[in-house]
Amino acid sequence: MPKSDSTHNQFANKAQAWSARFSEPVSDLVKRYTASVGFDQRLAAADIRGSLAHADMLAACGIISQADHAAIERGMAQIQQEIADGRFVWSLDLEDVHLNIEKRLVELIGDAGKRLHTGRSRNDQVATDIRLWLRDEIDVQIDLLQQLQGRLARLALQHADTILPGFTHLQVAQPVTFGHHLLAYAEMFGRDTERLADCRKRTNRLPLGAAALAGTTFPIDRERVARTLGFDEVCRNSLDAVSDRDFAIEFCAAAALIMTHVSRLSEELVLWMSPRVGFITLADRFCTGSSIMPQKKNPDVPELARGKAGRVHGHLMALLVLMKGQPLAYNKDNQEDKEGLFDTADTVRDTLTLFVDMMGGVTVHTAAMREAALQGYATATDLADYLVKRGLPFRDAHETVALAVRHCEAARCDLADLSLAQLQGFHPSIEADVFEVLTLEGSVAARNHLGGTAPQQVRHQAQALLERLEGPGATGHS
Ligand code: ARG
Repeated sequence: MPKSDSTHNQFANKAQAWSARFSEPVSDLVKRYTASVGFDQRLAAADIRGSLAHADMLAACGIISQADHAAIERGMAQIQQEIADGRFVWSLDLEDVHLNIEKRLVELIGDAGKRLHTGRSRNDQVATDIRLWLRDEIDVQIDLLQQLQGRLARLALQHADTILPGFTHLQVAQPVTFGHHLLAYAEMFGRDTERLADCRKRTNRLPLGAAALAGTTFPIDRERVARTLGFDEVCRNSLDAVSDRDFAIEFCAAAALIMTHVSRLSEELVLWMSPRVGFITLADRFCTGSSIMPQKKNPDVPELARGKAGRVHGHLMALLVLMKGQPLAYNKDNQEDKEGLFDTADTVRDTLTLFVDMMGGVTVHTAAMREAALQGYATATDLADYLVKRGLPFRDAHETVALAVRHCEAARCDLADLSLAQLQGFHPSIEADVFEVLTLEGSVAARNHLGGTAPQQVRHQAQALLERLEGPGATGHS
């Protein structure tokens, strides 16, 4: 073995990045094919954080000297600065973020830098880095989801009384309040935050100490490293610690659902913005024009969000397939976890950021919504319920109203346009108070129970959500 010497660069080329055992360098294509530094350099901050916690533990356990520890801290501070200033030179020859930083450390501080990797492997190192990085990312995304819920709740409060048609099968079904419709999405995004918070628990565990796969012969203190890095727990099995990517898959699954919800909302925004529907206008800054058709204003942001759901779903599938064939423990396949994971986080983050802004700036055309709710016999169920309350079995009431609707279709009018005498022709128990239930306002107000569409319920739900998000007094109500 050549004598260790800080002036001798053991990382001179990739063939020698880990040992002198290799007799020929890899081809350029193999180098490019196997390198991850092009994309994993964004883990640099996490990598340095993990290394500092590891070095602190090595020194505390007497595995490296205090002088070496101090040198490592000094060297890492400089590297951090070089990266922040954009001066750090990333080299493909050094394969990944870990070897690039380690090589620079050795350049800066010599042998102390070479001691940093004692009791550690890139396998537990990279697993730690991803968890640190993802933990921060989850916190950002939870915050964005909560901001979006807040926007939806505020818009819902403004539109607790605004009525639009509710659809099933995209056929007019029953009138609903726009606030109620918006709060449905707030519920979805609420479950998304719960899923992310749950995934964070399993992400926030420390792999370091697993070393390559079996643990290390050095007297390490994993609990100390976990405390330094803010991990809740230490991974209990070294083989699992280096090879587990469940937490990343869980994140991608949660992200896939977030994008599914965003995509459903997007589909509605696009429909509502269509001039044929005209329920809303999105602020101009979220739309683009056409290069040929001067009249166009296209809802590009929701359309793209709907499209980007596809790539996020794809990343989940890719990660699941990436893992399914891997024997224990670490395999290089795992390097493929990063690009999809990063793209998932970036896509969800950008999408949510845009939606927070966009949902705050929706112009609602209440007259168009009301007009649409008046078409399609949206209060037919209310008439049936009215008859039931006067003693008819529901199935008979359903049949009676179906005949009335058929009549209105032929006469091209709404149920509420029929005279009392005409309505009584369908059933003699009908009285003048029927018109209260046939109106849109009567219909929504009557559904006044937990989860119902009544304005009173919507106000209550929106206020309760805002108070959960922002604390008591968020809405100026007690
Ligand atoms: N760049 C590698 C990755 O992302 C780091 C771990 C490499 N470990 C190894 N034994 N080759 O997974």
